[in-house]
Amino acid sequence: MNGAVIKNREICAGHFLLSVKLPESFKTPMPGQFVMTRDTGRNDPLLGRPFSVYHFERSENKATVEILYKVVGKGTLLLSRLREGDLLEVLGPYGRAFDVFPEAERVVFICGGIGIAPITYLASHYRKRSGARNVKLVCYYGASEAENLVGIEKIKDICSKVFICTDDGSEGYQGLVTEKFGEDVSSYEPGTSNIYACGPRPMFKQLSKLLAVNPISCQILMEERMACGVGACLGCTVLLNDAEGQRARARACIDGPVFNIRDIHWG
Ligand code: FES
Repeated sequence: MNGAVIKNREICAGHFLLSVKLPESFKTPMPGQFVMTRDTGRNDPLLGRPFSVYHFERSENKATVEILYKVVGKGTLLLSRLREGDLLEVLGPYGRAFDVFPEAERVVFICGGIGIAPITYLASHYRKRSGARNVKLVCYYGASEAENLVGIEKIKDICSKVFICTDDGSEGYQGLVTEKFGEDVSSYEPGTSNIYACGPRPMFKQLSKLLAVNPISCQILMEERMACGVGACLGCTVLLNDAEGQRARARACIDGPVFNIRDIHWG
């Protein structure tokens, strides 16, 4: 479906916020689902890539999707050059969404780097769904340094409490987000708390170790490389532990990108 770029601006070093106007028939993405984008004008396959949804809204006769992204290669570099009015093909929404528990008392978000994008969309969904109920939304957000804490004001507005962690100590706790969460993990109880995470693979691996002794539910969003986005190319394979303790293969684009952290084979 063709969309038109409304704005595409750098909000901190190497991080961009892209806003695209879409036809009103575009289906509302559920938190955790992703869209595939392609530059309509150049038809460059490098621009066919998945992005988590950062924000989505519809008004009378249009829909608007916002994508928060970091320039990490040729595809995102080309994307960063799009200007207002440029056309962009946006397909989706695709993939398995997060399971949301409307009666949750405490929801914990753990994110590293650009993993803040889908977590923010999920957190705002929880905030809207909870209405007047005082659900406690807690976020642990890690980045290399303070200036890379992209979207920090928005997540602070949504959540009751945000723990900031930076590798260099330039803001908040000095160290990894999993180290900070590890100090608090025993204060979260299965049954009343639910965890959602998005970030780099080492963060997930560490989180799975922390949760080995604490059976809190934890869903993670794995941002794997994807080519087709619809289950056809096998380019996004994730290894799972199946019921017999054997390895099973899943496709992140259709079986995920959301998985139970305990189902993943971390190697
Ligand atoms: Fe092609 Fe998942 S991206 S199978």
